[in-house]
Amino acid sequence: MTEQQQAGTASTERGAARMKVDPDFRVGPLNRRIFGSFVEHLGRCVYTGIYEPEHPTADEYGFRADVAELVRELGPTIIRYPGGNFVSNYQWEDGIGPRSERPVRLDLAWKTIETNQVGTDEFLQWCERLDLEPMMAVNLGTRGITEASDLLQYTNAETGIELADRRAKNGHTDPYGVKVWCLGNEMDGPWQMGFKTPEEYGRLAEETARAMKRFDENLELVACGSSNRSMPTFGTWERVVLDRCFDLVEHISAHAYYEPIDGDHDSFLASAEDMDRFISSVVATADHVAAAKGSSKKIMVSFDEWNVWFQKRWAGEKKLEIRETSALIEDVYDVEDAVVIGSLLIELMRHTDRVSIACQAQLVNVIAPILTAPGGAAWRQTIFHPFALTAKHAHGTVLQPAISGPGIDTARYGEVSALHATTVWNAEAGELVIFAANRDRATELDLTVDLAGFDELRIIEHVHIADDDRRAFNSPEQPDRIVPKPGVSTLTDGRLTGVLPAASWHCIRIATSSRSED
Ligand code: AHR
Repeated sequence: MTEQQQAGTASTERGAARMKVDPDFRVGPLNRRIFGSFVEHLGRCVYTGIYEPEHPTADEYGFRADVAELVRELGPTIIRYPGGNFVSNYQWEDGIGPRSERPVRLDLAWKTIETNQVGTDEFLQWCERLDLEPMMAVNLGTRGITEASDLLQYTNAETGIELADRRAKNGHTDPYGVKVWCLGNEMDGPWQMGFKTPEEYGRLAEETARAMKRFDENLELVACGSSNRSMPTFGTWERVVLDRCFDLVEHISAHAYYEPIDGDHDSFLASAEDMDRFISSVVATADHVAAAKGSSKKIMVSFDEWNVWFQKRWAGEKKLEIRETSALIEDVYDVEDAVVIGSLLIELMRHTDRVSIACQAQLVNVIAPILTAPGGAAWRQTIFHPFALTAKHAHGTVLQPAISGPGIDTARYGEVSALHATTVWNAEAGELVIFAANRDRATELDLTVDLAGFDELRIIEHVHIADDDRRAFNSPEQPDRIVPKPGVSTLTDGRLTGVLPAASWHCIRIATSSRSED
């Protein structure tokens, strides 16, 4: 590794990469639910994150308007709540009704005093105001079928039964109509309150799912998959769990967090490789279960926790003392982290045929694209930008480009292509968007894209994330130190040429008169 690479500064070697994009190379319609996020009662995600009644921008419900504005700009489509590890010891009844009567409890997952000032109604009404789809999780750690079924009736039943009448009394007569439900969280993990063997969880998930589907067969249920690809039960867990729940669930979850391990930034930049293998393995396992059952049902992957998380740093905080709500896991992200996030989003789009939902974990303060100061400012981290641009501009059909070019040798994944890309074609709006990352830290790529299958092309915009100082980050003093900047590309005779600096992420929007024949 050169000194320059070590320091995270740019270098000037050059390589050439090629892409061919054709309207016939279709993966499928883009699932917009892959632009999801996650709000957990953890650290300052809820309290002094989305909710802070004393804040100067607080709305009449106590939620921060400055944060809401940034959430709108970020553009998530679906939000998972209330955990995470938190949900596995949560008593949802604590968080409803008059605030002054709500119990203060100890959350054992994060050893934090939970005031319950925000609960199911506050979260669901915040989602309504921001036009976000909620994705609720039920506690299958310390609780079970009855409590899950009760929560479902509280949120979704028409008045006339006790639980729905209680909701009406608490101020919301109409059912919330929550469609997507997670059957617990990371139940394969020994750190989880009430963690289980795959057989134990499979049975509980099956019984809970059956009860929930008796209430509404149109719900979409997510069975817990593996907490990461390195879990000792990975693969077996999915097979055993799906064997029990197959007919009752639509999705199985996957969780993954990435960081440069022991200074291995090449593998870190290639993290999408891990995500690719993770998704492919879960899909293969789900399809194996389908085959064994003689079914054509396709279980979809809900990648409902993913992000960059410096767990090596977090490990030092593991001896948590019982505390009031305070900062936990507030990682600050640099330029390289933003490139990895952009690349992971590319990977999720590449799998749109089998990834139905994905939630970046989390939304505010806790490993998050948005940071806040209590009583003070809210600002965008570097990783905010690739998410916001992708969520804003990726609409329509994912096209799989053919890619060739130089590779990078990585310790974890072997040789991977430096260029990582996908394209999304919005035939109705006449727009084709190339999302691309140059994952090589040392080589600038001259990119050529063959777009011969498209008519009347014009570049609308090319923006990218890169910086000579890859360790640069945003802060309250310099909230816009890292923002998307114009990129370099030209288009002639159906061929786009551009320059992708070392370790960079790009969003290139192209107008085309081509329309889909479908
Ligand atoms: O997102 C932080 C934590 O990571 C979640 O609570 C848990 O599900 C995962 O291990």
